[in-house]
Parts: sequence; C-alpha cells; structure tokens
Amino acid sequence: MDMSHASMATREAEWSVPVYDQLPLEPVRGDGVHLETRDGRRLLDMYGGHAVASLGFGHPGLLAALRTQAETLIFQSNAVPMEVRAEACRALAAFAPEGLDRVFLVNSGAEANENALRLAFRMTGRSRVVAVEGGFHGRTGAAAAVTWGARGRWYGFPRMPFDVTFVACDDVEALDAAVSSDVAAVIVEPIQGVAGAVDLSPDFLAAARSACDAAGAVLIFDEVQCGMGRSGHPFVAQAIGVTPDLLTTAKGLAGGFPAGALIMSDPVAESLAVGDLGTTFGGGPLACAAISAVIRAIEAESLLENVREISARIRTTCVVGPVECIQGRGFLLGLRTTPSSRVVRDALLERDILAGTSADPHVLRLLPPLTLAADHVDRLSLALSEIGS
Ligand SMILES: Cc1ncc(COP(=O)(O)O)c(C=O)c1O
Repeated sequence: MDMSHASMATREAEWSVPVYDQLPLEPVRGDGVHLETRDGRRLLDMYGGHAVASLGFGHPGLLAALRTQAETLIFQSNAVPMEVRAEACRALAAFAPEGLDRVFLVNSGAEANENALRLAFRMTGRSRVVAVEGGFHGRTGAAAAVTWGARGRWYGFPRMPFDVTFVACDDVEALDAAVSSDVAAVIVEPIQGVAGAVDLSPDFLAAARSACDAAGAVLIFDEVQCGMGRSGHPFVAQAIGVTPDLLTTAKGLAGGFPAGALIMSDPVAESLAVGDLGTTFGGGPLACAAISAVIRAIEAESLLENVREISARIRTTCVVGPVECIQGRGFLLGLRTTPSSRVVRDALLERDILAGTSADPHVLRLLPPLTLAADHVDRLSLALSEIGS
C-alpha cells in the first residue's frame, strides 16, 4: 500500500490529537543513520528520533537482545526479581559516575525527574527547588514545575505543587543566593537540550555541587537528553568531574525502547523503603535487555571515542553557509544560524538531511545516532555550504 504523505497525515490527524507540529514526511524504515520514507526518499538522520536512536536503526546487537527477550519472557513486573533487570542495573551503575551505584528504572524522562524531585523532598523535608532558566525537565506536574516557561504556556495544572526559584544560566552569584537552607534540590540539565544545546559552564555546575553541600540540598543532574554517551562521555557528570546525588536519564538509554532511570548515591538509596516508589512497566525485561545491549554496544564499538572525534569534525567543517558558530558538546550540538533555524532545517530536508530545531529560533539542533561517521558530516557540511547564508 503506497499512500501519499498528505493522506497519511490526514489519517493520523483524524484519529489523534493536534498537539504536534509534524514534519511533512513519513519514515517507514531505518538502517544505520538513514531513514527511508514512504515516498522512497533516503534521509541522513541527524535528529535521531529526538536523541533516542542512540545506536541508529537496525543495530544487530540491540535487535537480537530484544528478539531473544521477547521470545523468552516478554514481561514480568517488579513483583519478582529478574536476572535481566539485575544486569541492566549493574551495567548502568558501572557506566555512571563513581559513587552513583543504585538504580531505579522507570519509563520516561519526566517520570525519572518526577521521582528524583519526590526523593529530594522526602529526604530533606523541605519544599523549594532551584532550577535553571532555559531548562526542560518534562511535562508531568513536578517536572513541568521546574521547566522554564512552562507555566505561561502549557503547564495546565491550577497551581504549582511546590516553590521554585529559577536562576540564570551560569550565574554563580544568583545560584549561591538562591540555595538556602529551605531548598530541597537543585535540578540542572548540564547541557540544555531543548534550549538549543546550551552547555552550562563546569564552574557553574561545580558551584551547584558546593551550594547543595553547604545547604544540605540534593543535586539532581537531568541527563535525559545529554546522557548515555551523547556528550562523548558516559554522562556529562564524568566529563566535568562533578557528581550529583541523583542523575536521571532516558531517551537514548534503551536505543528506542521506552525507558528511563534514576541513578543515585548510596545515601539517597538508603532513604528508601518498600512501597516508597513504584511503576508497573519500569524495569520490564524488554527495556532491561535493551539497556544492557546499548551499553555493551557503546563500549564494544568505542562509540564515546567516535562521538568525540566526529563532533570535532562537525565543529571544524560545519561553520559554513548559514552557520555562525556551534555550541553544545559531543552529539548534542546547536548550530547558530543567521536565518531562522526552521528555514535552514527545511533547506537541509530538501537535500535529504533531517535536523532539529530548538526553543531558540536561531539554533538548529543535531542529535544524531552515536554511530555517525565522517562521511555523513562531510555530506552535512556540503549541504550547508550549498544553502549559503
Ligand atoms: C532534558 C530533558 N528532561 C526531561 C525530558 C522529558 O522526557 P520524556 O519526554 O521522556 O518524558 C526531556 C525531553 O525532551 C528532556 O530533554
């Protein structure tokens, strides 16, 4: 059956709700870093399903892990212990910064942040959170409350569940002033993804650590988008040498299978008892098999080294055409463009390259699979130079 994109889009609109500004294409197949569309185009995917397809498409190790687990035992809840879950938690703790050794598995980034904040409130008995302007943490009640700008646009709940103080990016003085003895947590995205790959300074992140230590507050790194190898390090925490008390991750965690995680220090884990947290699907065997397969592939295929090397190539060869400069780290990059990033995104799409936009109208976001290679970057660079400024 070969339907045009317009008729597929109409069909989806008829049965779903109109909350997404969708692109005019329908991917039907993927291999490596390429997508094939229903009308037969082959796209270079620099967007990675919004930072999710960490191993690209059709990765043999990931597919084998999912297939074997699906055929063996498709689901059991946390009511029973499972080897596949134990292994995913072990692998994730080993991948995470030293000192973060305990894992709680959930289904999404918002759910991870929701639980991280809940833990901080429970541990401290306090009711205020410090968050950073530009940060995005998800759409559930607590995660959205600490998301910059949510209240004025889509928050939707009648009131805030707790007090939030926002500080400007990299403003150490404001941070120090805000983190007083009534603060339960500081939550920060070390590289702000939705904002346009804004990498916060290591000094600011170190200051957040010191301020939390002084105030007895919990430091939460939201590495939902920038974690799991995307920065060229397992997590940004390791890249900058600052260890939070709690780290949340999701998106690329299971390579496309829905999964999220809280990775925490022993003192945080020790504050928990039976019944304090829970989820039906979180830590399901398919997600766990996928998490282990993703970490195995990152290590076996030297993907962290690949991200660092190829990212450097993007930085040196892609400041051409409409691109003024590049921000971010690894494979979470923001290309600052002279025309609007939507115009550049559409021009790239005409040349069969898929990239993302961001909350900054002049920042085009690249979130490709960690397997992206040099020739793909050369293709991007050539396309950008053709577009012109
Ligand atoms: C940094 C960050 N935190 C949290 C979330 C929310 O994740 P999810 O959509 O899986 O709930 C996102 C999603 O874009 C994100 O980028």
